Amino acid sequence: MNVKKELLKTLAASDGAYVSGAELAEKLDVSRNAVWKAVKSLEAEGYTIESAASKGYRLSDDNNRLSAELIESKLSTASLGRSLIVLDETESTNSVAKELASDGAAHGTVIVADKQTMGRGRLGRSFVSPSGTGIYMSVVIRPDFDIETAALITSAAAVAAAEAVESLCGNEVQIKWVNDLYINGRKICGILTEASLGLEMKFLEYAVIGIGINVHCLGDSLGSELLGIAASIEDETGIKADRNCLCAEILNRLEYQLENITSRKYLEEYRRREYLTGKEIIANAGSETLYGHAVGIDENANLIIELPDGSLRHLSSGEANLCRIKK
Ligand code: BTN
Repeated sequence: MNVKKELLKTLAASDGAYVSGAELAEKLDVSRNAVWKAVKSLEAEGYTIESAASKGYRLSDDNNRLSAELIESKLSTASLGRSLIVLDETESTNSVAKELASDGAAHGTVIVADKQTMGRGRLGRSFVSPSGTGIYMSVVIRPDFDIETAALITSAAAVAAAEAVESLCGNEVQIKWVNDLYINGRKICGILTEASLGLEMKFLEYAVIGIGINVHCLGDSLGSELLGIAASIEDETGIKADRNCLCAEILNRLEYQLENITSRKYLEEYRRREYLTGKEIIANAGSETLYGHAVGIDENANLIIELPDGSLRHLSSGEANLCRIKK
């Protein structure tokens, strides 16, 4: 038995209540001195644990160390996150997840990192991923979806992430078609789904859903080109969300949305939150630049634009690489 892991699990399960040294020693079948040593060792790893002479130990509300045990303690999923790897640092969790998936990693395998050194966004952009501030998480899925349903994965993931963020911070979270989450008009989250298609591109072998969320204040870690565009949950709401709880909440909601994706019911929630709808926009679709009025989202999660001649164009995320609001 790993004393530190069991200690963390027990503290997480107590939901902020103190657990006495004697109780911990009995539960873990070690001496009280061994409990104290394990607490000190966890603190050295960056966990914030409070101790009070007559009460024992509790995990502090402002603990900001990401951990598999703390995420697992809040999971209610059947498969997502049941194989969970938490890394201090990696180049890109999507790259790790893709490598594991091509080696046969199970449906639901999740990689979370505290920091990414080469975080990737859409269109070959980088995703700024400093330590201690965000969630950088990739989920391997192997659903038996046809290709049409696979095209809905990113929008379903956006709804799951928006609901999870909203449940923790209380503020309204909007979705900017197709994969960005916004609070107060600023981007706090991006999603990058990468898929491996099977024989003759007829089925989905696996997909990796990569979710990057700016949780705590970003300070000056954003480049000047993102100032005024990107922000964090804390910047916009003042709330310091618990990163472990947020990871678990996203996985809980993502599993539900993926299981129910073929009903397309989540699209109602997507439409309710969609940011471009009703606005005059400019969309880059391949070599074309389209000017039009964003009318809504269709049953395949495409953006519907009314062009100046009154015709409607349904844009898929594959063909439209950039949509912005006309000033
Ligand atoms: C975007 O905004 O264009 C998408 C950003 C996606 C970032 C996440 S962070 C976890 C995963 N790993 C990556 O390298 N990218 C995704």
